[in-house]
Amino acid sequence: MKEVGMTTAIFPGTFDPATNGHLDLIRRSARIFDKVVVAIFDNPSKRQMFSLEERLSLLQQITEGLGNVDIVSFQRQLTVALARTYQASVIVKGVRSVADFEYETQMASMNRYMDDDIETVYLTSRVEYSFVASSLVKEVASLGADVSELVPPVVFEALHKKLQSTNA
Ligand SMILES: Nc1ncnc2c1ncn2[C@@H]1O[C@H](COP(=O)(O)OP(=O)(O)OP(=O)(O)O)[C@@H](O)[C@H]1O
Ligand SMILES: [Mg+2]
Repeated sequence: MKEVGMTTAIFPGTFDPATNGHLDLIRRSARIFDKVVVAIFDNPSKRQMFSLEERLSLLQQITEGLGNVDIVSFQRQLTVALARTYQASVIVKGVRSVADFEYETQMASMNRYMDDDIETVYLTSRVEYSFVASSLVKEVASLGADVSELVPPVVFEALHKKLQSTNA
């Protein structure tokens, strides 16, 4: 059962890998909500650069100082069902652009249609991370760009190891 007066938020994503944009949103959410459940989408049919275990470990390391943040994983499942599993009444979504907003508001309406008790809350990251997406970070890093200011240090290190092993 949900603890009285306690608001849990769920923050779902692929986190392949986590970026400073993600971390910024997790920190902001942790200040607003009593508990934040970061839920990593484990999609075995889609090729990811980092395994579920690696994504989990990186997220755990970068959120170590945040006592009210938990990292979990999930497979093909409705976000509203996932929210109910963790007694979360809020789904946190990040919006970077009008395109994100358009997609996310449609998604939020569908989620509300399925479960009117769960609210979607949109957050923006710091302006300097507003263009940061995992896919773009991987793409430019693989072509030699310095992404050290866009991802946490442990992720930067892991990304470089990954790129070295794939280029070898
Ligand atoms: N820089 C950012 N600013 C605000 N929100 C962000 C940022 N990066 C990611 N998010 C949000 O984090 C959540 C999880 O996103 P996701 O795992 O798809 O990351 P992503 O960076 O968009 O990766 P990909 O490029 O693989 O889609 C989404 O709600 C997304 O909008
Ligand atoms: Mg995305």
